[in-house]
Amino acid sequence: MIVVTGATGGLGGATVEHLLKRMPADRIGVSVRDVSKAQHLADRGVRVRQGSYEDPAALRKSFAGAEQVLLVSGNDPSADLVSLHRNAIEAAVAAGVRRILYTSQQGAVPGNPYPPSALHVATEAILAESPVAWTALRNGAYGPLDQVLGPWQETGEIAQPADGPVPYTDRDDIAEATAVILTGDRTLDGPVDLTAPTAVTFADVAGIASALTGRPITRVVPGDEQWVADRIARGAPEQLARLLLSFYRASRANYFAEASPLLAELLGREPASVANRLAADITA
Ligand SMILES: NC(=O)c1ccc[n+]([C@@H]2O[C@H](COP(=O)([O-])OP(=O)(O)OC[C@H]3O[C@@H](n4cnc5c(N)ncnc54)[C@H](OP(=O)(O)O)[C@@H]3O)[C@@H](O)[C@H]2O)c1
Repeated sequence: MIVVTGATGGLGGATVEHLLKRMPADRIGVSVRDVSKAQHLADRGVRVRQGSYEDPAALRKSFAGAEQVLLVSGNDPSADLVSLHRNAIEAAVAAGVRRILYTSQQGAVPGNPYPPSALHVATEAILAESPVAWTALRNGAYGPLDQVLGPWQETGEIAQPADGPVPYTDRDDIAEATAVILTGDRTLDGPVDLTAPTAVTFADVAGIASALTGRPITRVVPGDEQWVADRIARGAPEQLARLLLSFYRASRANYFAEASPLLAELLGREPASVANRLAADITA
């Protein structure tokens, strides 16, 4: 059995959908905080058990019988996520799980100024010390492009802080590749990068958008503090604006610059590119 946590969230939910295409539902389990949100999976024959990273006993029950667990990283920046991930890893070990896959992040190395990196570095270290086999899926940035780029179709501008190359990746491609790994016989040990095959800057994206739309889309680079002030004025919490800014600072320092061919290999096709995804956004 394969048990997926975070299955009522975006990446975990999409991974379960891809698993359902590859294996019988009764060999899939989910460990979720709120079982009522997973009724659609129970209806299709998936084993649904309650499991929250705060509750080791419940996690052990929700992982029982699993050969592999996909541990989706938590999303609450105010929580002690490393301790919560430790709870989940220890519960998986206690339940006799053979392999843990963990959703890490591209560029999860010491020194990366994007704060979630430290969380992933620490969780990978716990996995490395654990007695089970593990794979850290260092996923590329997969936010929706309209959120990443801002309202460029209306304004004709991509106005974001100075940046560096990033292989912006489609979340559903990562979910499909995760299901391929979970169901396949290719052994991936330790950290692996799952990213789109090409890293691009916002200047590149402006060029792609200009070509797709046939009108000039300009790359505008506000100063960091001006950009933060603009975001706050438009209603964003300052903490979130500064978190995003730290992502751009990390990209400038090339922490996300290296794209990997592994995602394409696992999918057996080209992953969605920024050009494909922009074209879909334009026609949507
Ligand atoms: N690489 C990237 O670009 C990127 C972008 C965003 C996030 N991330 C990271 O990747 C994770 C998955 O991304 P996503 O898009 O699927 O995010 P998401 O839709 O917010 O899903 C996060 C999932 O984690 C579950 N969760 C959070 N805290 C938990 C806890 N204490 N115990 C048990 N489950 C808990 C949530 O449960 P509920 O459904 O009950 O809320 C939810 O199902 C995020 O949580 C974040 O760590 C990566």
